[in-house]
Amino acid sequence: MNGTVIIGAGQAGVQTAVELRAAGYGGSVTLLGAELALPYHRPPLSKAYLTGEKGADALLMRGPSFYSEQAIALHQGADVIAIDRASKSVKTAVGRRFGYDHLVLATGASARPLGCPGADLDGVMVLRSRADTEALKLRLEAAARLVVVGGGFIGLEVAASARKLGKQVTVIEMQDRLMARAVGPDVSSFFAEVHRQNGVDLRLGDGIAAIAGRNGAVSGVRTSSGVELACDIVLAGIGVSPRTELAEAAGLSIANGIVVDSAQRTSDPQVFALGDCASFPNPYGDGMIRLESVQNAVDQAKIVATGIMGHQARYQAVPWFWSDQYDLKLQMVGLSHGHDHVEERGNRADRRFSVFYVKAGRLIAIDSVNRPADHMRGRKLLAAGAPPITPDEIDTHFAARRDT
Ligand code: APR
Repeated sequence: MNGTVIIGAGQAGVQTAVELRAAGYGGSVTLLGAELALPYHRPPLSKAYLTGEKGADALLMRGPSFYSEQAIALHQGADVIAIDRASKSVKTAVGRRFGYDHLVLATGASARPLGCPGADLDGVMVLRSRADTEALKLRLEAAARLVVVGGGFIGLEVAASARKLGKQVTVIEMQDRLMARAVGPDVSSFFAEVHRQNGVDLRLGDGIAAIAGRNGAVSGVRTSSGVELACDIVLAGIGVSPRTELAEAAGLSIANGIVVDSAQRTSDPQVFALGDCASFPNPYGDGMIRLESVQNAVDQAKIVATGIMGHQARYQAVPWFWSDQYDLKLQMVGLSHGHDHVEERGNRADRRFSVFYVKAGRLIAIDSVNRPADHMRGRKLLAAGAPPITPDEIDTHFAARRDT
């Protein structure tokens, strides 16, 4: 009996190990992580850890003794370079082999690098790992001007953090609105205004053409529209790519991530995949989706553990996400894509409002700003199935009109 080997010690990998033990799994659990640090939470990396409001200890998912107490064999600095499905084993960069009965791929995603001229200059950075944040933090101490490429979650959270630290910040976003992947246009425009009020030089509908350097280090950028901006750091927040190399080399099906079924099984039934790296059947629509969120990693871990225990399970959790920028808590539940009607409740001037997305008369998603009660209620309602909803029922369910 070789037990379970989990590749990747991020949220998805650690949570799978935890869920296996919680389910009473009797086999060995081996957790292989490429990083040397104990497994940590990523969300604070662009926020409180970058500003210094949180230290390294506050990032840890579990204390140092947790893993041995739970009989989870955590190997830090274990870089897996190959999976051999014939012999059911994986090999690390230093030549160590681990045999498995079940293999779990929790390999996550990596930050997309910029492809423009000058992208290799010193001072062009990404933010994905703890080490990335530490490097950015150190550089920000000596820097005055930061250019952020990408107005998604990472770019905007870093912009807000850098403004807190008193830095001059420009955000360049190629689309005509912020966070277009995740929120509706009304929420985008609200956040654009907030960033501008906070002193961010926001440039929508522009890209980065080239990065200029002096003595090998960043000195400025030229945007696609020809604007030249002087800066000391360029932070790329232009999205992530799923880490599929190992799975692909092992002959597993890949299509925008490692393809799994609704029980998180890959094209090899002994091998599971979950979290940012996995592409799964969309329980709320057609086709396959890949989600990049803590919620997705945590909930899929339960499904993987159930499958390894030999039971049936089907992933159909309601997706939810959050982003903190300045004093704003943005919470999103459901997938708003394809909505045909929008209702807004609350008060933008008070910076407390929710946008309800409706498709064919059914509630499919809610974006909330500083209205956590709407978000929580939405999670419950959507978990019970996208309910048919009229504007009046939004008021009944969310008791929202009283403070509009
Ligand atoms: N120039 C300008 N903007 C660009 C460019 C470019 N060359 N390429 C992409 N963008 C923009 C996209 O239009 C998008 O708005 O970058 C933004 C990327 O946003 P996200 O997809 O949200 O990715 P990112 O912010 O990098 O976050 C990566 O980390 O916090 C998690 O949940 C988050 O999974 C996400 C991941």
